[in-house]
Amino acid sequence: MPPETQSARMRQLCALAPVIPVLVITDAGTAPDLGRALVAGGLPVLEVTLRSDAALPAIRALSGLKGAHVGAGTVLSADDVARGKDAGATFAVSPGLTDAIARAAEDAGLPLLPGAATASEAMRARDLGYDMLKLFPAEAIGGAALLKALHGPLPQLSFCPTGGITVENAPRYLALPNVPCVGGSWIAPEADQRARDWPAIEARARAAAKLGQ
Ligand code: 3PG
Repeated sequence: MPPETQSARMRQLCALAPVIPVLVITDAGTAPDLGRALVAGGLPVLEVTLRSDAALPAIRALSGLKGAHVGAGTVLSADDVARGKDAGATFAVSPGLTDAIARAAEDAGLPLLPGAATASEAMRARDLGYDMLKLFPAEAIGGAALLKALHGPLPQLSFCPTGGITVENAPRYLALPNVPCVGGSWIAPEADQRARDWPAIEARARAAAKLGQ
């Protein structure tokens, strides 16, 4: 799948909800309840970060969940792309972009949301054919002001900013023409997952789903 098609698919996913919850799941057994709470709250696109032993089993558990689109996040290598795809992920997210990851995503037919932090990184991704990128780490590198500035010379690129996004600052991003959605971990913190507080997570998802409207 060429990068252009991958980015087109990522744009479709981003159009489904203004926020992609970034999930660190440490107990795959809770994944179905977590997924149901997020989908019920109006957030169907879920990024499960490959940062825990439970991540791949969690992706597997979530991949059959009705109404959910589950991706593998924190993809750092070609192997991560393959493992995510095998587990049932339908997209992949990386904090950056390497040749190996780009090749693996193309070979696996897995839509990739590659990360960029500078104009040069965004231009390199664009040269490869990607026009929908993750801006990471968004708040630390300039936030909404940076995205507004990048829109001038690079109007064909859109971004999903991630890293430091909150319910308070998300509207500033979502008001920009080059930001169809944002990503963030605030919706399903690990403490709430451990406490199995699905109503609290669903309530946060519901509030997030209304952002930018
Ligand atoms: C990530 O990919 O880790 C995201 O940037 C999560 O960032 P956050 O925890 O600040 O939302």
